[in-house]
Amino acid sequence: MTEKTTPAVFLDRDGTIIEDRGHLRSPSEVVFFPDTVPSLKRLQEHFRLFVVTHQRGIADGIVSAAEVARVNEHVVAELSRHGVDITEVYCCPHRREDGCDCIKPKPYHLRQAARDYHIDLTRSFMVGDHPHDVVLADNAGACGIYVRTGHGAKHLAEIRGRPAIVPGIREAADWILACREMQRQQALHPAWLDEAADLLRNGGLVAFPTETVYGLGAAAFDPTAVARIFEAKGRPRFDPLIVHVSSPEQVSLLADGIPAAAQRLIGQFWPGPLTLVLPKAAAVPDLVTAGLPTVAIRMPRHPLALELIRRAGTPIAAPSANAFGFTSPTSARHVLDHLAGKVDLVLDGGSCPVGIESSIVSLAGESPVLLRPGGIPAEDIEAVTGPLQRERHGKSAVVAAPGMLPRHYAPRTPLRLIPEAEAWPIPASGQKVGLLAFREVPDPTPFTCVEVLSGSGDLREAAATLFGAMRRLDEIHLDSIVARLVPQEGLGRAINDRLTRAAGQGT
Ligand code: TXA
Ligand code: MG
Repeated sequence: MTEKTTPAVFLDRDGTIIEDRGHLRSPSEVVFFPDTVPSLKRLQEHFRLFVVTHQRGIADGIVSAAEVARVNEHVVAELSRHGVDITEVYCCPHRREDGCDCIKPKPYHLRQAARDYHIDLTRSFMVGDHPHDVVLADNAGACGIYVRTGHGAKHLAEIRGRPAIVPGIREAADWILACREMQRQQALHPAWLDEAADLLRNGGLVAFPTETVYGLGAAAFDPTAVARIFEAKGRPRFDPLIVHVSSPEQVSLLADGIPAAAQRLIGQFWPGPLTLVLPKAAAVPDLVTAGLPTVAIRMPRHPLALELIRRAGTPIAAPSANAFGFTSPTSARHVLDHLAGKVDLVLDGGSCPVGIESSIVSLAGESPVLLRPGGIPAEDIEAVTGPLQRERHGKSAVVAAPGMLPRHYAPRTPLRLIPEAEAWPIPASGQKVGLLAFREVPDPTPFTCVEVLSGSGDLREAAATLFGAMRRLDEIHLDSIVARLVPQEGLGRAINDRLTRAAGQGT
């Protein structure tokens, strides 16, 4: 069946795809966010792209309509030069007080696009850094996505309802593509989410995608269901689970008090790959927390995960959906590789955009402790909390993060880390060695197989490809895998943590 109408993504301009630098008069003032072009390229494979911008500087006499038009033409031309096609730029030149029809959040321009280009607004998205952008989406029957770039951080408190709140345009694209995947599955089997929620309410196990890795979920307040998670994974009972919530409000069901630092971290990073360890509420089963007085909680940044938790009507306890000790799954197929027959349902939401597990911060003690480096760089967390203590897994390890074992996240094939100063080893004849490289390698010929995490040296891309690459190398019966650590910055810390544990050298 061919579709008569196309979905679109409507993009706010300032603060969403380019930096917000006040009223722009000339093309030379335009600065694109580094993520804009790659993100829009991914989106345009499935959506028509429009820009919808409010330029009240025109009515205020600060900029001329001609200057704004030149800036807009430049934005379109630059994007086009990089292979991104913007169908049309809609611009409202009025003051809010003018009561015009074309001002956000009135849906005037979106309706115009719907008419002129046969856009199906119900399958469309509006991305912006102002609450008006989200309300605009609502008013047009589309889905609003709020970015924290531009004015985003400043107006966060004014946001009503539950739109997607994401760090920037890259994660907005992740969200939109995940929604599209969800709609596609929904069309194939309309009842799938209700079935999944029913299963969870009745003691079942459901694997589901999050932005980090796939989780193996059970209703958090159902100890019998939670016990099945440990069985399915072969996970020791001393290793506690993370409880997933669909809103910050649900934290009060699980935690006994929310310290101010936790509030700040939630405000800054949720939904997203940050797990908080807090003193636990009495109602949380001991099995979930392995008898600890604390509970780990996170709100995932994935539309399917959030919708599932909402429909289930309960927080969901979920470890990564892999056999204990092995590489985490970043696709539905990875889940089935380890857990087929042991899980009641696997929700396929495509591949996980972050690709590495959440960062875990404990706020249960005197000062915040980083228990596991993960999807949010430690530097970013420290900008909110101040210096984080790093957990050292010596004698004190028992309490802190029991799951952080020296060998973990590991392929079955032995993995060896080669120090930076050493050349790549040449495999002995007859030896089949795989190379897990961060960037392109000069000479791949000695190796049976080479996996490159990011040709361009992007640590976020490397994190997203790490576990998939490890699994592919693991599947081809090599004698060993060699790898090197990546730069120890941003997501590099989390990647290095996983590589070190995969090599059985965790601390
Ligand atoms: O990104 C993620 O966090 C993924 C997705 C599915 O959300 N989940 C995940 O769960 O990685 P899992 O079970 O593979 O790792 C959870 C880690 C373990 O190392 C566990 O020991 C630690 O969290 N943890 C859980 N509860 C804790 C607690 N109360 N105190 C300290 N560490 C805790
Ligand atoms: Mg804006």
